[in-house]
Amino acid sequence: MCGIVAYIGDKPARPLLLEGLKRLEYRGYDSAGMAIVNGDLQVVRSVGRVRVLESLLEQHPGMSGTLGIAHTRWATHGEPSDRNAHPHTDDPGNGHGIALIHNGIIENYRVLKTYLEEKGHVFNSDTDTEVLTHLIGELYAGDLEQAVQAALREVTGAYAIAVICEKEPGVLVVASKGSPLMVGVGKDEYIVASDSSAIVAHTTQAFTLDDYAVARLTRDSFRTTTVDNVPFSPQVRDLEFNLEQIELGAYEHFMLKEIEEQPAAMRRSLKGRVDAREGQVVLGGIADFARELVKAKRVIFLGQGTALNAALVGEYLMEDLAKIPAETDFASEFRYRNPIIEDGTVVIAISQSGETADTIAAMDEAKRRGALALGLVNVVGSTISRKTDAGVYLRVGPEIGVASTKAFLGQITVAALVALFIGRRRFLSAEHVSNLIRELERIPELIEKTLQQSDRIREATARFVERENWLFLGRGYNYPVALEGALKLKEISYIHAEGMPAAEMKHGPIALIDDGMPVVVVATRNSQYHKVVSNIEEVRSRGGHVIGVATEGDTEIARYCEEVFYVPDVVEPLQPLLTVVPLQLLAYHAAVLRGKDVDKPRNLAKSVTVE
Ligand code: M6R
Repeated sequence: MCGIVAYIGDKPARPLLLEGLKRLEYRGYDSAGMAIVNGDLQVVRSVGRVRVLESLLEQHPGMSGTLGIAHTRWATHGEPSDRNAHPHTDDPGNGHGIALIHNGIIENYRVLKTYLEEKGHVFNSDTDTEVLTHLIGELYAGDLEQAVQAALREVTGAYAIAVICEKEPGVLVVASKGSPLMVGVGKDEYIVASDSSAIVAHTTQAFTLDDYAVARLTRDSFRTTTVDNVPFSPQVRDLEFNLEQIELGAYEHFMLKEIEEQPAAMRRSLKGRVDAREGQVVLGGIADFARELVKAKRVIFLGQGTALNAALVGEYLMEDLAKIPAETDFASEFRYRNPIIEDGTVVIAISQSGETADTIAAMDEAKRRGALALGLVNVVGSTISRKTDAGVYLRVGPEIGVASTKAFLGQITVAALVALFIGRRRFLSAEHVSNLIRELERIPELIEKTLQQSDRIREATARFVERENWLFLGRGYNYPVALEGALKLKEISYIHAEGMPAAEMKHGPIALIDDGMPVVVVATRNSQYHKVVSNIEEVRSRGGHVIGVATEGDTEIARYCEEVFYVPDVVEPLQPLLTVVPLQLLAYHAAVLRGKDVDKPRNLAKSVTVE
């Protein structure tokens, strides 16, 4: 949510910042802006995509310098508009030439604004960010770092900020609390960004700012302190991925690239963690907590969106394989409903980014109440990975498309590994674990096979793509897949879709079915197959058109469906890893056929770092 990039060094900042913004645009894209200090402070900003900013910058050929900040916004306070776009500056005329970019929310901005207005500050936007900029200006007495520290001691909420001042042309100050910020360390240069995708082209060394950390960067040195000015040394580490992984290459969209990367991603998730011969799962990230996990009395999975759908699969796996009572909750609901955490409760936070504000807050709350907290997270070093007691990385590589695809597979894979890790230490025999590991190891190849149907799925989708209302049905392990199929379709093609347990349909939603309504039913061979076929009949007899996802070789099902996408047969608990693939492709093709911006759907942002 909002992309931040800042530079200080010996190179021209402008092209570097622009390139960084393009890489970070998936985080938010309703307005963009840039500020550069070179003698004086110059600011250019505009509503719209980064490309709009790029053309606007062409009208400012003289805007150059080696110190600058840039921002791509996802609006929270204040509509997307020129005046609300970042960077914000302190009082023009009376100010010190301070410019600031921000990701997060300043919760007490109203009170601060009143205080500043009484002091004569005049505001030009509706944003909380401008208030913070003026506060820094108010407290500025010749030292930007000190003014930032002092201002941050007054604010509540979340922030990742980068600040420059025309009076200090050799200083960049950045700070973070609750919103991600990473400092790339180059030779005589620093590039700061919301995530490593804007850094990796310039340096492979970086450190992450912890909560309440402030960094003062000059061209050849840096100093890190807390907001209370207590110095500390950050841990500079190697970035975990390379440039190629975050480039489109021959693909038109990241979403398709990431769908097709799923076999490789899953192989990486499994690599070194499973031993089919011994029937063993090795998870170094949670090994120290094996004893607590084995004794767990209850497991609560938390997540949002796609991660929540994966969490639901995790719940089923945990009960099936580890025989521990499990449940799933929206992180956003869990946090506010006075949850009961008894001894032996384990909370598992699932997140691609590791930065989802609701999930972080819920996990914090669970920990505060005494739960053991695990994280199943993709982004190494992210907030959830740092705050949880232990965890397992997904290892699916960077996910850039706003619609989550390979992370979903990674989340289910890792949830299965955790369930097997615990299950083996409880009741599962080595043989049972071996069989499931062999099955897991087969799946990447089976996904490759499923992906070959892409053209057929596009043709089938084209038949229904004009319909504005769709249902997605599934039972058991395929119920979360129905939810995920509906979520994918609505978020990128703006078609209204609802996912639900197939049996739930007749308790109300069946009233929606009219002639020709597309109803996607996951009907693979498993313990609930015959029940699902009955649900298909119910849809058909009301005029609905069924698009089935079925098991290879099941020719019978074709009699009930307008279209069928086949997936290879695997054991029931692992079916979601395959059944979701045709639904991802269906959503992708629907969005392309409807001419939508697949990787940057309207109103959305890749990671939701506000509650
Ligand atoms: O980074 P996270 O996995 O925590 O993100 C959670 C959701 O915001 C995310 O899965 C969202 O629902 C995706 N856009 C779905 O495709």
